[in-house]
This record gives sequence, structure tokens and C-alpha cells, in this order.
Amino acid sequence: MSEPETSLMNRLVSLCKRRGFVYPASEIYGGLNGFWDFGPLGTQLKNNLRDAWWRDTVECPPLGPDGKPLSIVGLDSTIIQHPTTWEASGHVGGFTDPMQTCRKCKKLYRADHVDDMLLESEWVQSFAEAMQVAAFGNMQLGAVLKNRIVFDAAKALQWAQRKGKKLAPGLALVRNPSVTLSWLAEDMAANPTEPVAFSDLLRYLATEQKTRTGLQMPCPNCGGDLTEPRQFNLMFESHVGVVEADALKVYLRPETAQGIFLQYKNIVDTSRVKIPFGVAQVGKAFRNEVTPRNFIFRVREFEQMEIEFFCAPEDGLKWYEFWVAERLRWWESCGVAKENLFRHIIKPEDLAHYSKGTSDIEYRYPFTAPGFGELEGVAYRTDYDLKQHQTFSKTNLEYIDQEEKRRYLPHVVEPSSGLTRGVLVLLCEAYQYDESRPSPEWLKIKPSLAPIKLGIFPLVNKDGMPEVAEKLYLDLRKDFVCQYDAKQSIGKRYARMDEAGTPYCVTIDGQTLTDQTVTIRDRDSAQQERIALDKVRGYVAMKLKT
Ligand code: GAP
Repeated sequence: MSEPETSLMNRLVSLCKRRGFVYPASEIYGGLNGFWDFGPLGTQLKNNLRDAWWRDTVECPPLGPDGKPLSIVGLDSTIIQHPTTWEASGHVGGFTDPMQTCRKCKKLYRADHVDDMLLESEWVQSFAEAMQVAAFGNMQLGAVLKNRIVFDAAKALQWAQRKGKKLAPGLALVRNPSVTLSWLAEDMAANPTEPVAFSDLLRYLATEQKTRTGLQMPCPNCGGDLTEPRQFNLMFESHVGVVEADALKVYLRPETAQGIFLQYKNIVDTSRVKIPFGVAQVGKAFRNEVTPRNFIFRVREFEQMEIEFFCAPEDGLKWYEFWVAERLRWWESCGVAKENLFRHIIKPEDLAHYSKGTSDIEYRYPFTAPGFGELEGVAYRTDYDLKQHQTFSKTNLEYIDQEEKRRYLPHVVEPSSGLTRGVLVLLCEAYQYDESRPSPEWLKIKPSLAPIKLGIFPLVNKDGMPEVAEKLYLDLRKDFVCQYDAKQSIGKRYARMDEAGTPYCVTIDGQTLTDQTVTIRDRDSAQQERIALDKVRGYVAMKLKT
């Protein structure tokens, strides 16, 4: 079976648009970078993932190391909190990303994304082709940049005068080839056949005044100069209050977690929880990301599913390990293959100063493969947040342990995952391509998470079949999300359901009218079996449980 030329990610994005999973936000006005809307199927899928998380976290929490269910309660706090929240949490001072601007085309970049974006850039790919850099597409990004090639000045000049003019008008090599090439010639004078790292080569191409500026990094869009990185706060600001002079500057929350810390005392005082216990919250978070990218992977408005798990200080590391294992297991239970998940332990020197351990649960996205990218972070945050809020609010947040007769600020382990990113993972994991099927593109979503569970079709739209099918639909839709479809051929209807990831389809045919049996088709095997009409509910219910 031959895979199409278009990259998997492009195919997935267009399937998502075509079938109503995800649309660009504000599309009729040209869209808004970093914002996406969930369409009918996407909303259903997202709600199913959210509900599965809530059920497995709050309503039916996992068993702890002692074999007893954990105690986890839910919360729904506001998006706008008192602004001091974000001073205490460190977000006002420190929730920043280094940002660079192109002096020519004015595009903004997150400094640590420039390398990746260069490798995706049209002009860099065109230049690499001209230089005959091998296996560009199959190498990991870092490896491409480190790849050493023998530089060919004549080919570079030819590229600059033709393709470069159109694709990279800001590049020093294009604007002033003689000066740029002379730096290269000068630096290579000792050994002109010595291969040069591709990343260094890109810097030479971008540099006109090496003695004044040193080697510069080119703009991925136009090749122009990038400014030095400047810190940029990611929080969206707004104002509370009608009269401008009195208005209070507030922020849209960049994480749901802080709302939990702010209500921690009320929860302890009112819900009879005892350490160890968790508080879970699902909701929107907003980050003015410098470079939103990769579809719904990094966006400016997204949803998180976070747990703050409060425990005795001496138990923090134990719960941290527990939660890493538990969260990996949970993603597997959603149908994500074990080999596509990876625990990335953050090195001690890279940990936030208050953290005693952080692991990212990573997924092999099509745009990171064969590498991995973050899906969820599990952080042992010690008592940092409660201590900060205790200091800033001057409210005692100590926990009183009646049995052991001691008071302390609990330590916190935080499993923090993205719901939006989780949907992306489910879609990437589910995407299948098989030309022998009614629709070559189909989604193998875990049945219990699929947006539609059951398609119900009359084989033909006459002879009493629609009446039986409609009755079945009206009956079963109380138990599962069903879709009734009588339009076009049966093959096209199967194709539509496969693209939507619907695990089962029931067809009412001529035989149904005589012996009260139907065919039921399994999405994954594309096989049909005949069962009694009154057994359909039980059949689907049983399958959804597994
Ligand atoms: N309270 C901790 C916290 O917010 P984080 O690692 O910044 O930690 C947690 O975010 C999760 O939220 C990430 O693992 C990711 O799944 C999701 N997330 C963060 N920024 C995102 C963005 N710009 N777009 C989509 N999801 C994002």
C-alpha cells in the first residue's frame, strides 16, 4: 500500500477540518494565529477525553500504594483570579519566554524555536537542496543542523541569485553575496574542503558585518537579521472595572493549578479530606505563546486537566513516583501505544529551584518522530506554592494533623496534562491509512472515547427499512451517541463513519424485516456479523466496556 506524498500531519489537519474535528478559529476573518475551534466531532471527542479523566481521577480515583482508593475532589475555579495570585506564583516576574524579532520582516520567534523553524523553512530547504544535503527529511532536526557538508561557493551564489532572491530576500548572502562569501572564504582559507556544520553555514549566510555583530542567526521566514533575545511575559492582560482609572489589571490564568492552591484551605475546611488527598480541575488556560505551532500542540487558548496532590513532606518523592507511573498507565488506557509514550526525567540542573523532581510524559508526535514531545508534566513542587500564597495573603495555610498532633505545609505533586494536546495525541494515534478500505483514511479511536459510538443505517431508504432503523436510533441514542444515516451507498456511509472513528455500524436490511436480525460492522476489522436486533444494545455496551 503506497502512502500519499503529503505529510501525515498535513493529512491529519485536513481530515480534521473536512470532518469537523478542528477548524481554524475566526476563519471567515482570516483566522487568528494560535487559536482553533473544535467542531461537532472534535467537541465530542474532547468531552469524552475530559470525562474519562474526570471519572478516573475524581469519581473513581486510582488505588494508592496501600491498595485503597485515593481521595481526590473536584474544583471549578475562575479564569480571572486576584492579580496577587500571579505575583505569589512567580508568573508576573518569571513566566517569560525569550523572544527574537526579525529586523526585516518583523516576524517574532521564541528564541529556542528558531532552530526547528529554520529546518522547516522553505528557503532553508531550498538552500539545502541546492547544496545537496542528504537525507534532510529523514534526519532528526538536531542531526541536520550538526550535519557537516562541504561548502560550494559557486552553487551558493547561483542559488542566491535565483531562488534565494524570492525565498530569502533578507539573507545577507542574497543582499550582498560578495561580502558574505568572503567571510566564509577567509574562515575556510586553511582548508576549503573541510566540511562545515550546516548550522554554522546558515550563520555565515546571514552575516554581513561579522567583525561588528559576530555570526548571526537568520530569520526562518526571510533570512533577515534577528534581534537579541528579549524576555516576553506570556500572560494575557485584561482589566476588571468599568472606569478606566480605577480598573484593576488582571490576567487570564496561564494554568488552572493556582485556583486549586487558592481554594486549598476552603476545601480542607469544608470537605473532610485528609492528607494525602488531591484536588482536580479541568479548564481553559491562556498563554500568549510567541510561536504557536504544530496545529493544536502549542496554542494560545487551551484546556488543562490538573491534579494538585497534597501529602506529608516526607512522602513527596513516593507520591511523585506513584503519579508518574499512574499517568503513563492512564494514557495507555486511552489507547495510546506504550512505545509511543516516553518518560523524560528532567535533569536536576534543569529543575525549577523549588522542584525536587519533574518528569514529562512525552508522546511521539508525527512532527517530533522519531523523537518525542511533551504531553503532560508531573512535578514534585514541594511546599513552594502554598508557602508563597501563605506569605502573600498572610493567611495561615498549615494543615493540622489531628492524629499525629502536628502542623505543616503540605507538599504537592502535580500531574498536569493538556486536554487540547491530549486530543491531538488521540488523533495522531488513531490516524490510519489503508487504500483497500471504503475510506483510505480512518480513525482507530478507542471505542469508549469515539465521538459517535454507533452508526445506524437502513440498507435502502424504502421497503420499511427506514422505519425499523429510526426506531432503533430513537431507542439506542439514550445509551450511546448514535448517528442515523440513510444517504448514499452503504460503502460511502461506512467510509464516513470510519473517518469519524465510529467503532460500530448497524445495517437494517431485507432480512431484518423477516427474522429481526441486523448486520453489525466492526470498524477495525471491517468484518460484519449478524445478530438479533434486540441484542444490539447489549453488544455495543459490552464492547464499549473493554
Ligand atoms: N501547572 C503546571 C503547568 O501548567 P506546563 O508544563 O506549563 O505546566 C502543562 O503545562 C500541560 O499543559 C503541558 O504538558 C501541555 O499538555 C499543556 N500546555 C501547556 N502549554 C500549552 C499550549 N500553549 N498549548 C497547548 N497545550 C499546552
